[in-house]
Amino acid sequence: MTTTLIDGIGMLVTNDSTHPDGDASPLGIIENAALITCDADIIWVGRHDNAPDADRYHDMAGATIVPGFVDSHSHLVFAGDRAAEFGARMCGNPYTAGGIATTVAATRAATDDELRANVRRLRAEMAGSGTTTVEIKSGYGLDVSGEARCVSIASDFTEEVTFLGAHVVPQEFATDRAGYIELVCGPMLDACAAQARWIDVFCDRGAFDLDETRQILEAGIRKNLTPRIHAHQLERTGAIELGVELDAASVDHCNHVDDADLLSLANSNTVATVVPGADFCTRVPYADARKMLDAGVVVALATDCNPGSSYTTSMPWCIAVAVRDMRLTPAEALWSATGGGAQALRRSDIGVIAVGKRADFAVIDAPSYVHLAYRPGVALVTQTWKDGQLWAGQ
Ligand code: NIG
Ligand code: FE
Repeated sequence: MTTTLIDGIGMLVTNDSTHPDGDASPLGIIENAALITCDADIIWVGRHDNAPDADRYHDMAGATIVPGFVDSHSHLVFAGDRAAEFGARMCGNPYTAGGIATTVAATRAATDDELRANVRRLRAEMAGSGTTTVEIKSGYGLDVSGEARCVSIASDFTEEVTFLGAHVVPQEFATDRAGYIELVCGPMLDACAAQARWIDVFCDRGAFDLDETRQILEAGIRKNLTPRIHAHQLERTGAIELGVELDAASVDHCNHVDDADLLSLANSNTVATVVPGADFCTRVPYADARKMLDAGVVVALATDCNPGSSYTTSMPWCIAVAVRDMRLTPAEALWSATGGGAQALRRSDIGVIAVGKRADFAVIDAPSYVHLAYRPGVALVTQTWKDGQLWAGQ
């Protein structure tokens, strides 16, 4: 057991509104703060003046510390890129689900080592910008062995693994949708369920319809997986209501929502995850996160990192866009990227800096967390600590 005093914190964002030293906001901000870790956990949080001694000492020289970012939606297991598709889109082509086939072909042709190296590279980028927890989906294998290997590679990097065999119907099943859905709900699910925690479906135009989505998610639930859904990205399908009915942890994208969707989300345990990178890279109007918050919906922010619709790993950049273009306040955006992501993963041990929680945090070279949005695109995260350890390579 080793204790470490992290001292000299100019501004500490705890997300713990019950701390007696914190301000009255949901961010529970403590100025001139310190915290103590013991191995992977936080054992003390408070003002510098009251900090007890510890075995080791780190001076943060007045920096801001925030809970590590929780990126609750990513597709890191893939090969190749789709820069040409992005370029064509920026010349006016629309985004469609069809581009996924390009990445499926590249992923199927890649070795395990190539796929693993790509995940490692992207995971390192994420850590470099303050992400301490990431959810990773399969979805570019789309056959039994391909999905099983994507899930297995994802599980080398995170506990938050999502089986997304229902990303699109692959070309070889183009004339037999029912056959593909049977495969997903049967042998593919059997091969993937043990290493996954979640099951996801891309329920949208060009992917899966509402009945198919229900069938696939219910099969996953029978295997003890919890649903999350790619919902209402391209059009309003009813997937949000289905997500609420099936107690999905999260419905993601949410570009097309009506008042009934917001009402059902507000009265549920289902988080709405907005992904500004996808809206930016597909050049569509941003999801209306402001309206969601005003309706009482819990909102999470995630990168949706994937080679087709959102090739970013940066949560600080997502925060900046969410503030500028989704009209969240800097405080709301930071909470959505930390506490909101944790809620979207049904985790209470992360996304908060408090006694008994994981020692996961990001150190920001700025006098306030507001700089995350105020200085868009600037690499302000100087250190990322996960499980009480400084992430190597920074
Ligand atoms: O979240 N929308 C579905 N899946 C991904 C895109 C995948 C791709 O285009 O390769 C998304 O945007
Ligand atoms: Fe996605």
